[in-house]
Formats: sequence, C-alpha cells, structure tokens
Amino acid sequence: MRRIVLLGPPGAGKGTQAKRLATDLGIVHLSTGDLLRAAAARGTSLGREADGYMRQGLLVPDALVLRILRERLAAPDAQRGFVLDGYPRNVAQAHSLAEITPIDHVVYFEIPESALVERLSQRRSCPTCGAVYNLVTQPPRTPGRCDRDGTTLVQRSDDEEGAVRTRLAVYRQATLPLLDLYRTQGRLRTVSAGGTVEEVDARVRASLR
Ligand code: AP5
Repeated sequence: MRRIVLLGPPGAGKGTQAKRLATDLGIVHLSTGDLLRAAAARGTSLGREADGYMRQGLLVPDALVLRILRERLAAPDAQRGFVLDGYPRNVAQAHSLAEITPIDHVVYFEIPESALVERLSQRRSCPTCGAVYNLVTQPPRTPGRCDRDGTTLVQRSDDEEGAVRTRLAVYRQATLPLLDLYRTQGRLRTVSAGGTVEEVDARVRASLR
C-alpha cells in the first residue's frame, strides 16, 4: 500500500511522473486537474462551474474539488494505494485530505520558474486519451497527432500566457506553504525536477526508498 502525493508548481512534470510511478507500482494515478477537466468536458454542473476558474488559472473552490476527490478515492481501484497529483493545493485542502486518508510520502518537485514557462508553452495533449506531449522534449511521432489514437493534439486553455502567470502566483501564495506543513510532519521528500523525464523518474524513485 503506497499513498503518495506529488507537490510542485504548474509544469514541473508531476503528471508525467505520476503516470510512470503509478504504472510501475500498480496503483492508480489520481489527478484533480484531470478529474475537473473530464467533468468540464462532460458538461456536468460541477464541471461547468470549475471550468470558469480553471481557464483563468485560479483554484477551483475547495468544496467542489473535495467532492470530486472524495468520490474518486472511494472507488475500488484506489483502495490499494495511489499517486495523487494536484491535491492538496492549500492548507485547508491538506487538512481535508488528512481527514479522508493517511498519506505516506509527499514528493516535492523543485524547479526554477523559467523552466516551467518553457515546458508549459510547448505542452500539447490528446483530448481523447489524455496523453501529454511536449513539442520540444517529448514530441509526438507524427507532428500534431497523438501516437496512441491519431487524434489532433490541443493546447490547454490555461497554458496561455496570462493564465500561466496567474497559476504561478496562486502556487506561490497558496501551495508553497504546504512544504513547511509536510516538512514538519516528516513526510516531505524533495527532488530536483530539472533534466530529462528519465532522470527525474530515477530521483523520484530514489526519494521513495
Ligand atoms: P492541474 O491539471 O493539476 O495543473 P498543474 O498543477 O498546474 O500542473 P500541470 O498539469 O500544468 O503540470 P504538471 O506538473 O503535471 O506537468 P506535466 O507533467 O504536464 O490543474 C489545472 C487547474 O485545475 C488548476 O489551475 C485549478 O484551476 C484546477 N485544480 C486542480 N486541482 C485543484 C485543486 N486541488 N484545488 C483547486 N483547483 C484545482 O509536464 C508539463 C510539460 O513538460 C509537458 O509538456 C511534459 O511533456 C513536459 N515535461 C515533463 N517532464 C519533463 C522533463 N523532465 N523534461 C522536459 N519536459 C518535461
């Protein structure tokens, strides 16, 4: 049973590493961003409400995210452990999470802001299967098309410059204080998120030993 939280700024590579780690450990990857985007794509009332915040780069209200996370954590496939990516994002969410489930490790992705802007501006994703690419570092085999299903790749609306600036400011103000909280609890493992995907992957695994 491994219950792992990945913490870090937008574009640090949390989603990329969470998928690899979850597959390797045979546990689920839970991303609140993915859950919210899926709800928005389905046009549910929660999804429509969340979408307005996400497009601007703002946090979705705690109660909405908690509702969607609580449901997902209760599913049978989450009972064997999980890699949680994108939650908690503020101190109130950390307290809510502690009420729902224990956490074993929190892995913090440390990276300079200049690298984040570059990664986010070059990110493209598949609206069908959710695969994530990078035009510079992880390009698809056929330009503009998903390797898995051939769907035309899209840019996330919140990867536009203004929204990225807001997301970084929100991260500094609301999410960074979580480092102290988890450090005090003795759960924090810090990894450098610079370098290749494989290098970061190796550091994440080493941090969990
Ligand atoms: P969310 O989807 O969680 O976005 P995020 O935290 O901003 O993180 P990203 O998905 O942008 O980046 P990532 O770190 O996963 O990087 P990735 O692996 O894709 O949240 C989106 C929005 O949803 C929020 O703004 C908010 O509105 C809402 N939300 C979500 N959770 C919430 C919550 N708990 N409370 C309230 N609101 C919430 O990589 C980025 C790019 O870099 C890719 O192109 C990738 O291919 C590339 N890359 C990855 N690793 C490397 C590497 N080592 N070298 C080179 N390139 C790399």
